[in-house]
Amino acid sequence: MLLRTLCLGQLPLAFANELLLSRELPDPIAINNGDYTDCANAAWPPSEVGVELVPQAPDDELRAMVSEVDPKRIEAIIEKLVSFGTRHTLSTQTDPNRGIGAARDWIASEMRGYANASEGRMTVTVPGYIQGNASRIPFPVKISNVVATIKGSVTPEKVYVITGHYDNRVTDVLDYTSDAPGANDDASGTAIAMELSRVLAKRKPRSTIMLGAVAGEEQNLYGSNFFAQTLKNASVNVEGMLNNDIVGSSTGDRGQRDPYTIRAFAQGPPLTESNVTAARRLQIGGENDSPARELARFSAEVAANDATGMNIAIIYRLDRFLRGGDHSSFLQAGYPAIRFTEPNENFNHQHQDIRVENGTQYGDLIEFVDFDFTARVGKVNLATLWSLSEAPGLVRNVTIDTTALDNNCRLSWAVSNDSDLEGYEVVWRSTTASLWTYQVEVGKVGNVTLPLSKDNVIFGVRAVGKNGYKSPATYPFPAV
Ligand SMILES: *[C@@H]1O[C@H](CO)[C@@H](O)[C@H](O)[C@H]1NC(C)=O
Ligand SMILES: *[C@@H]1O[C@H](CO)[C@@H](O)[C@H](O)[C@H]1NC(C)=O
Ligand SMILES: *[C@@H]1O[C@H](CO)[C@@H](O)[C@H](O)[C@H]1NC(C)=O
Ligand SMILES: *[C@@H]1O[C@H](CO)[C@@H](O)[C@H](O)[C@H]1NC(C)=O
Ligand SMILES: *[C@@H]1O[C@H](CO)[C@@H](O)[C@H](O)[C@H]1NC(C)=O
Ligand SMILES: *[C@@H]1O[C@H](CO)[C@@H](O)[C@H](O)[C@H]1NC(C)=O
Ligand SMILES: *[C@@H]1O[C@H](CO)[C@@H](O)[C@H](O)[C@H]1NC(C)=O
Ligand SMILES: *[C@@H]1O[C@H](CO)[C@@H](O)[C@H](O)[C@H]1NC(C)=O
Ligand SMILES: [Zn+2]
Repeated sequence: MLLRTLCLGQLPLAFANELLLSRELPDPIAINNGDYTDCANAAWPPSEVGVELVPQAPDDELRAMVSEVDPKRIEAIIEKLVSFGTRHTLSTQTDPNRGIGAARDWIASEMRGYANASEGRMTVTVPGYIQGNASRIPFPVKISNVVATIKGSVTPEKVYVITGHYDNRVTDVLDYTSDAPGANDDASGTAIAMELSRVLAKRKPRSTIMLGAVAGEEQNLYGSNFFAQTLKNASVNVEGMLNNDIVGSSTGDRGQRDPYTIRAFAQGPPLTESNVTAARRLQIGGENDSPARELARFSAEVAANDATGMNIAIIYRLDRFLRGGDHSSFLQAGYPAIRFTEPNENFNHQHQDIRVENGTQYGDLIEFVDFDFTARVGKVNLATLWSLSEAPGLVRNVTIDTTALDNNCRLSWAVSNDSDLEGYEVVWRSTTASLWTYQVEVGKVGNVTLPLSKDNVIFGVRAVGKNGYKSPATYPFPAV
């Protein structure tokens, strides 16, 4: 059967505005011109309330900060990290010039230098533990992360994390002596965490930001798992984690190039949620609204703009095939986490012994890194982290009332006691749209009823600060 439906997006704009303003929706059947139209677009269904969503724009402070991310410093950091010969997790930790121990000490000392500008807000620690024998660990080894923590000035209990991994590898994952430059995988991500700690040390973020260089990634995500479990065990409220892994080049193995796009991998339903919640999520069509995907949408809203010069390509999956990353450790700890990775990869430059074979250069060499691109990815991270940090926290206990057979939507949530909270906004989009398309301010209240059928769209609720910054949206579940 052919569905014949009116889609607002197909109407002349003036008529559409009139519809919204008059709030008198005509009977769709009466004005249907009879042509089949695709309603899977952002403008369906027509609404009596709200306005088209206006993405949060970077303010002057954020623009200034973003412009400080320096490709030359990124280059110098990657060059220095490559100079340690190998940073394999099992490599020497006592040689002052070669191996992961020297790299760890250099990263910590650089970050401590940056912390000098922070008037005590930023501290640098090197938490670690001994990892015993395991499949990729033939002998017990110390796994150390380097973590710069900038304590929030207003809501320090609200925490955001960014990481890159400073360990690396060659073809044989157990080969810890051969030269392994790891310029892209993942000196690039480590350089972003370091450069952002330099820029942020001079600022006073409202919330706490932790910038980590983690180890043991190639052996089984050991460093990030230790990081995430430490936070989880201390019941720390991590409201977002950004993993930067392979963010140094935009040229793929067929020469395809896109230096203005970064991929953001975002998992669907969390594996940590209970079976009851998972079943309910499926029942209500919430598969696409995991906290990780709301975080990815948030990043696209605040960081794909002229201040960063980047597009964000959200990918609805945990990671690339045959690959894993440190965001998984945070997802497993129950935290929203996404992975940034370059748009086109060249696998000849990852996890490879340095060599020329049949005329092709293999190896993760610095000559394949694009420092301007890496700096722009740093800007995307900075805009995301800063916007998260300045916004109120995620709205809690958001529920949708599904007990009435009607064409309205009743949403409720817990009103926060944050004194800098201006109020709340309900956002929505058609079920087939990927990003939020509409918004309506509802004030500082804990519930609202909108004349919009709950059956037709996906809702989210977000908090608005007096400074104008808005939180990522929270997807509502039925109250019972
Ligand atoms: C930080 O500042 C102190 C005192 O101003 C100085 O002694 C120290 O060398 C600085 N550290 C770094 C790493 O720059
Ligand atoms: C770890 O494995 C090595 C052999 O690779 C063995 O000598 C050592 O005893 C093992 N250590 C532990 C704690 O099992
Ligand atoms: C977290 O707590 C669990 C359970 O007590 C414990 O087994 C684990 O070692 C802890 N992990 C860290 C990193 O503190
Ligand atoms: C969910 O159900 C599966 C299969 O019945 C079971 O293996 C798993 O432990 C359950 N998970 C939770 C969190 O209850
Ligand atoms: C190089 O060529 C040889 C001979 O054709 C082939 O066996 C080998 O697999 C090639 N190496 C790579 C990495 O493609
Ligand atoms: C959310 O609901 C739970 C369960 O009813 C409650 O324990 C918790 O305090 C509520 N959270 C907030 C922020 O109101
Ligand atoms: C606000 O609520 C949080 C969590 O419920 C609580 O820890 C904090 O003390 C409250 N702050 C104020 C100013 O009431
Ligand atoms: C809705 O919020 C109002 C205050 O804004 C409150 O009086 C009312 O009890 C709330 N209703 C529900 C169902 O939570
Ligand atoms: Zn990696």
